[in-house]
Amino acid sequence: MLLGTAHLVVSAAPSPARRTRLAGTVRDYADGFAERSGIRTDLELPADLGPLSKDVATALFRTMQESLTNLHRHSGSRTASICIARHEDAISLQVRDTGHGIPKAKMASPDGPIVGLGVGIAGCANGCGS
Ligand SMILES: Nc1ncnc2c1ncn2[C@@H]1O[C@H](COP(=O)(O)OP(=O)(O)OP(=O)(O)O)[C@@H](O)[C@H]1O
Ligand SMILES: [Mg+2]
Repeated sequence: MLLGTAHLVVSAAPSPARRTRLAGTVRDYADGFAERSGIRTDLELPADLGPLSKDVATALFRTMQESLTNLHRHSGSRTASICIARHEDAISLQVRDTGHGIPKAKMASPDGPIVGLGVGIAGCANGCGS
């Protein structure tokens, strides 16, 4: 079975870091997504995300939103798996599905970049405008 995976790793504190409500916001959004879409959604989140700058928290949240929107619109998956992990000086986000994957016609080569990107993935690659 093919998997669609979105993966983001950002430096955790490029500008002043502070405690955020990101964990609660992520939990609420994942619950709402599961309820609205009927897609079984698993969330792995550390108890303490540690201090984050506002820009990093915003980029993380927007990337998760766009990944879940893409999963719902494009993948055909019945499951979503979100994993946020805190590393020493970085934070990572992974959103996985069990759908049919990105169509071959949209890949420049098997491991190459996606052609015909919409605003979503390109925006996330550019820090989601934050
Ligand atoms: N989880 C996924 N499963 C299968 N295909 C995907 C998935 N996520 C993205 N894609 C493919 O990658 C393409 C580009 O995604 P992107 O988010 O950039 O644009 P979009 O969703 O088509 O439009 P927009 O985000 O601008 O509303 C999608 O059109 C779709 O074909
Ligand atoms: Mg999109």
